[in-house]
Amino acid sequence: MKQSLGAKPLAFPTPVYLVGSYDAQGQPNMMNAAWGGICCSEPPCVMVSVQNKRYTYASILEHQAFTINLLGCDHVMAADYYGIASGRDLNKIEACGQHVSKGEFVHAPCLDEAYLVLECRFKTSIELGTHTMFVGEVMDVKIEAECLDEKGIPDVKKMDPLLFIPGAREYYGVGEFIGKAFAVGTFYHFCGPADQKKISPLLCWSTVLVYGSRQRCVLRPYRCKHEDFLHGEGVVAL
Ligand SMILES: Cc1cc2nc3c(=O)[nH]c(=O)nc-3n(C[C@H](O)[C@H](O)[C@H](O)COP(=O)(O)O)c2cc1C
Repeated sequence: MKQSLGAKPLAFPTPVYLVGSYDAQGQPNMMNAAWGGICCSEPPCVMVSVQNKRYTYASILEHQAFTINLLGCDHVMAADYYGIASGRDLNKIEACGQHVSKGEFVHAPCLDEAYLVLECRFKTSIELGTHTMFVGEVMDVKIEAECLDEKGIPDVKKMDPLLFIPGAREYYGVGEFIGKAFAVGTFYHFCGPADQKKISPLLCWSTVLVYGSRQRCVLRPYRCKHEDFLHGEGVVAL
């Protein structure tokens, strides 16, 4: 039975965005922001919600730009520090021994230690209450080459992203692989709302392959710890 926790902004996990900006004097700064995410595919946009009392708030507006920097789990102490100290009082980047480079496309600093950096041009903002949501159009994404797999696709295990759990106020890493997106859900398309546990992996496999060949879909069963899951391979055209 579900229990009500009241009206709260609880969704799990959130990213750990390090929002980079230059202040009016040109000092680089990073701020930890868990209230953020991707918000448009084309033009590519991301959003981050910042309280107006943050030093970062004025800096983003001043230069109409910010960066989103993603640190791996091994940098958890620096990531947290960026969410405790303020650029108003000191240069946080120097204080935790990290380094920045100038953005190539926007006037905002890129964290050298980050495995991924998004250079964002301020697009619009919405005042929501405690937070103002800044939407940035992504002008460029830079990723450490060693975080790509052999096909050039970002590999989550190599990135080892840091995640945040609101409520508990804890950081986590990414867990095990569960299934291929835009693929495992096709089970219901082909087999209907049957009880997954009663259908053997072999049956699932053959059913999906028969239809799959017509649909340019190849799926194979993957036995998870507790239940039979389909582990998809390839993209499905439904
Ligand atoms: C895990 C974590 C997540 C945070 N998320 C946000 C957020 O989404 N928005 C915000 O305004 N502040 C957030 N904060 C607080 C700011 O990062 C913090 O106040 C920081 O000192 C502001 O830095 P600045 O004054 O240099 O801009 C978060 C802090 C932590 C530790």
